[in-house]
Amino acid sequence: MNTDEIQVRPARADDRDRILAVHLDAFGNDEGPVIVSLLEEMLDDPTAEPIHSVVAESNDEIVGHVLFTSVTIESSRESNDRATAQILAPLSVPSKLHGQGIGTHLVQETLKQLAASGVQLVFALGYPKYYSRFGFVPAGVLGFHAPYPIPEENAEAWMVLELEADAIKSVEGTVKCCEALDHQKYWVE
Ligand SMILES: CC(C)(COP(=O)(O)OP(=O)(O)OC[C@H]1O[C@@H](n2cnc3c(N)ncnc32)[C@H](O)[C@@H]1OP(=O)(O)O)[C@@H](O)C(=O)NCCC(=O)NCCS
Repeated sequence: MNTDEIQVRPARADDRDRILAVHLDAFGNDEGPVIVSLLEEMLDDPTAEPIHSVVAESNDEIVGHVLFTSVTIESSRESNDRATAQILAPLSVPSKLHGQGIGTHLVQETLKQLAASGVQLVFALGYPKYYSRFGFVPAGVLGFHAPYPIPEENAEAWMVLELEADAIKSVEGTVKCCEALDHQKYWVE
């Protein structure tokens, strides 16, 4: 698919069922229902605000969805700056459309919008090879602890991206996410 034909726009309330269907399809029968239920909780979670729920649309079809929710960084360091931060999760493209650049386009465009709105840091827990294309780097070695310890063998899956120069250097600590996502079962990767 030519990504020039894709419109990246904020999700509307009437997109909700189609968005859930995209995630169910993309994650498959095992993981899909868990992700859909988590996504529904996150969309309705006031502690996740400000929420950025963004779709990729082509010919009236939703061909991708990504959710960014607010996180805070808790630190005992007195000089810690306060950073405006979000976490990317979940991200899906319908399985029949995988590998056509839609996910990359959706995330790149949304990151530009987040940067313009003043978001300084973005966290993700996912495939290092995939997220490194956007500039995400391993977060643990930079002093950012996930809400729950990530198993050592998956440490590289916990990543951070700075949208503002030097934002990574000015803060460290434990990332606290919204209540819906604040359960150990989601942090094993
Ligand atoms: C991950 C996902 C959103 C990528 O969207 P997409 O539109 O297929 O991705 P793009 O076409 O932009 O990029 C394709 C690249 O992603 C890579 N990729 C896809 N799934 C991957 C995975 N599980 N691990 C590592 N890389 C992966 C492909 O190898 C390809 O790499 P290349 O560009 O070097 O050839 C999509 O595959 C999907 O919905 N997967 C199921 C849901 C999921 O796992 N989401 C969470 C991601 S952490």
